[in-house]
Amino acid sequence: MRKHMAKAKQHDVRSLKLADEGKRRILWADNDMPVLQQVRARFEKEKPLKGRRMSACLHVTAETANLCRTLKAGGADLVLCASNPLSTQDDVAASLVRDFGVRVYAITGEDRKTYYSHIEAACKHTPSVTMDDGADLVNSLHGEFAKYAGDIVASMEETTTGVIRLRAMAQHGVLKFPVIAVNDAATKHLFDNRYGTGQSTLDGIVRATDMLLAGKTVVVIGYGWCGRGVSTRARGAGANVIVCEVDPVRALEAAMDGFRVMPIKQAARIGDLFITVTGDIHVIDDPHWKLMKDGAVVCNSGHFNVELNLDALAKLAKGKPTEVRNGVERYAMPDGKRIFILAQGRLVNLACAEGHPACVMDMSFATQALATEYAIKNAGKMGIDVHDVPKSIDKWVATLKLKSMNIKIDKLTPEQKKYLASFDMGT
Ligand SMILES: NC(=O)c1ccc[n+]([C@@H]2O[C@H](COP(=O)([O-])OP(=O)(O)OC[C@H]3O[C@@H](n4cnc5c(N)ncnc54)[C@H](O)[C@@H]3O)[C@@H](O)[C@H]2O)c1
Repeated sequence: MRKHMAKAKQHDVRSLKLADEGKRRILWADNDMPVLQQVRARFEKEKPLKGRRMSACLHVTAETANLCRTLKAGGADLVLCASNPLSTQDDVAASLVRDFGVRVYAITGEDRKTYYSHIEAACKHTPSVTMDDGADLVNSLHGEFAKYAGDIVASMEETTTGVIRLRAMAQHGVLKFPVIAVNDAATKHLFDNRYGTGQSTLDGIVRATDMLLAGKTVVVIGYGWCGRGVSTRARGAGANVIVCEVDPVRALEAAMDGFRVMPIKQAARIGDLFITVTGDIHVIDDPHWKLMKDGAVVCNSGHFNVELNLDALAKLAKGKPTEVRNGVERYAMPDGKRIFILAQGRLVNLACAEGHPACVMDMSFATQALATEYAIKNAGKMGIDVHDVPKSIDKWVATLKLKSMNIKIDKLTPEQKKYLASFDMGT
């Protein structure tokens, strides 16, 4: 087991020898991040984050590395730790340390103790701005490491689950500093959650199992932004897709989008592949494991590893699970049935593939960087609450993304502007 080492070190990564490959991947991803590149070029000149201590707790991927380069270009003094123990790309972490001067604390497969020692290192940086993907850093800065939170002016939150938790903290009056819900920006969730999760989740499943999706019955649980993306892409690959929901509006939407909708208990009997994307706990539980057919493959692409009740499955199974391929564990049931779990129930797209393509993270991370600049400009003016990203940032990011894709759109004529602003013209 790796020792609790992060405290004394300036970084903690697998090996700096991996940095050459990491740098190649970071630069490759950057090719597909033109909006972030523009933000970086401006930050380089204007230094809007100059002298700011920042701590970020994000998936340590090539795309995140390009966000880090942008924050550094803006003048931030940055520490990065992982937001998931399985998602770190060790070569990228090494290059960030060696080539880009970022203090990184992240090692793929790190145990729980090391994971939290790395979060501790990020807290000890005494940041004035933080960035989270799932609120682990903010939680630590409200709990065990609250003594390091004195200077925080704001925190950015990247994902749905984090925003839900932070809103709950605000509602209970326990939130101690303002938060910007980057996830809720249109240029984030409409694209990253839908197209990013949609594609990369299937990518992770295929890389882990090499399964053919055509003709399979795929059960998608949760029809939010991620679920819509996963369902649509699975259908595109030729799968018969079933959606399970608890929200009647979303269930209706799924039905009218052409998917079969039914309760999980009913779907459990017929699914070949199950994908949870709810942000909820124990969505697949004891009764469902019992109903699944032999060979069912089950994975999760929601933020935390709580969506599959693996303790319940372990209780039902004979003996310990066996790793039959990288990232694939077989649980043997007493009646001879086998259930395969991917990535120990953690985010399958990051643990078994590379996470979202750079093209979509371009928008999420340009929005992150601009929201950070906004938070610093408005330091002390934002109330202690969860705030939206200003609409002007969304518009700017979308406009530049369209430009980078060589897509032109129309403009409202003066007459149309007048009409849309009136209540009595041309009725
Ligand atoms: N894999 C990734 O890279 C990635 C990317 C973005 C978001 N996420 C995470 O994915 C999860 C979903 O995000 P989203 O933006 O789609 O959220 P969302 O809130 O838009 O959708 C979640 C859906 O799940 C449904 N749901 C909740 N509990 C359920 C249950 N017990 N059974 C069936 N349906 C249930 C809700 O009604 C909702 O429609 C979150 O945890 C989010 O943080 C992961």
